[in-house]
Amino acid sequence: MDNIVLIGFMGSGKSTVGKILADRLELDFVDTDRMIEERTGRSIQQIFSDEGEDRFRDLEKRVVASICAVANTVVSAGGGVILRRENRSLLKKETVVYLRLTEEELLDRTARLSGRPLLRGRDRKARVRDLLSQRSHLYEQTADVIIDVEKMSASQVADEIAERLGKN
Ligand code: S3P
Repeated sequence: MDNIVLIGFMGSGKSTVGKILADRLELDFVDTDRMIEERTGRSIQQIFSDEGEDRFRDLEKRVVASICAVANTVVSAGGGVILRRENRSLLKKETVVYLRLTEEELLDRTARLSGRPLLRGRDRKARVRDLLSQRSHLYEQTADVIIDVEKMSASQVADEIAERLGKN
């Protein structure tokens, strides 16, 4: 079967939900950020600070291409995966699920995140608003299924995905 790719903003729970879903459906699980870190032997933060976002996006694109060449996998994709047009077209061949949250909820959740170079610096709230306004339509246009995950536990989100995809 196609891979199930979870997309959404940083802090939307893609990795937690992805692991639960993969377990339930007996599929493999991968996280694009962890794959990039394994391949390069460096952390996401180090890659951003040594070589910049563009280089990170190149690495991310390669990882997406290699994931799209396998099957039966639940994928937690980095929040910016929808930025590159090539990624968006590759993902059209997969089943893409957008874990959507309101701006308010994301402002709250991103306060608790670490290791996210794009959220570093003084005005995190303005940063989140800005990134979200650039990205919301791309998440929506890339997704086959959109789930409003606010007030849902990770386990409930995994159940909802399985149900919406007819896999329960
Ligand atoms: C990013 C999201 C991060 C990571 C990198 C950039 C983004 O992944 O890929 O820090 O551009 O939104 P998560 O969405 O898993 O936090």
